[in-house]
Amino acid sequence: MAKRKKKLTKIGKIFFCIIALLIIGIPLCFGTIYFLNKEENTTENNSLKGRNSVNQDTEKPVITLTTKLFRTKVGNEVDLLKDVTVTDNSNENLTVNIEGDYDFGSSGTYNLKYTATDSSGNKASEDFTLKVYMNGINLDLSKLVEGNYQTFTTSKGYEGIELNGITYIEGFIIANKTYSVPEDYGKDLEEETKNAFNKMVAAAKLDNINVNIQSGFRSYEKQSTIYNRHVREGGTVEADTYSARPGHSEHQTGTAMDLNWIDTRLEERADGKWLFANAYKYGFILRYPEGKTNETGYIYEPWHYRYVGEELAAKLYNNGNWITVEDYFGLTSVYEN
Ligand code: DAL
Ligand code: ZN
Repeated sequence: MAKRKKKLTKIGKIFFCIIALLIIGIPLCFGTIYFLNKEENTTENNSLKGRNSVNQDTEKPVITLTTKLFRTKVGNEVDLLKDVTVTDNSNENLTVNIEGDYDFGSSGTYNLKYTATDSSGNKASEDFTLKVYMNGINLDLSKLVEGNYQTFTTSKGYEGIELNGITYIEGFIIANKTYSVPEDYGKDLEEETKNAFNKMVAAAKLDNINVNIQSGFRSYEKQSTIYNRHVREGGTVEADTYSARPGHSEHQTGTAMDLNWIDTRLEERADGKWLFANAYKYGFILRYPEGKTNETGYIYEPWHYRYVGEELAAKLYNNGNWITVEDYFGLTSVYEN
């Protein structure tokens, strides 16, 4: 009996041990798994939090502009950053940069961007335009005050400005059958035109050519007298082929002049040939070339030269195959009635 009792106790001990191991081991095991998991989650959360704390600023800086368009002439730099400011929610001291290429020494329209980036990588940008006009333009840029002029685009994409009853294309005053100038406009040849003319006269002299003005500035009244005389002589249709109606003559703009001989045979003379081949070097264009009546609205006038500055004149000269102002800029020259 006693032996049997001893045997049962041994089994009991083993059983007890197994139960005890299960009771302690299972919770220990689950506990470990639970704690390990918890730690893993916490680490993950912390690293997410870390990432969020670096990137939580998603707001772009704010760029404030006073103008989206700058106008200047070749060689006249303007401070493009003068009136632009940037603020940011981070209170960082940000700087504004300019994206895009531009050149104050080269005429053209430059489409640019102001940009500013904060330390979180949030980038703001604002488009703006820089217009660098050619030298020789007639538009006084300081006279352009917001609201006192209108703009339009020509059929060839050039900028037209209407200011005080005058039309400027890319800064050049235009007088033809479509565009007129006010009755009281103009007093004399423009200073720049006179200076360029004097340079041309000096250069021509070196080639033994005399250049002289037959008709320079003409007022509205003077043009009226001339045009009306032509109408009396040959009728309106005929007069309109070679004489501008008052207000429509380029002579009233102070940029045009009839040189040497008001006769088509000027083209056969040495002075006519010299002007044809050299005037562009001093900024003058042959305004009414042969065979371009459908563009200019006028018959060939080998004596009528217009100052536009050396850059445009060189383009329009086109190796002697003159391009008209109308064709170049995409303008018409027709009377309304
Ligand atoms: N002869 C030019 C067209 C004028 O009268 O202005
Ligand atoms: Zn003329």
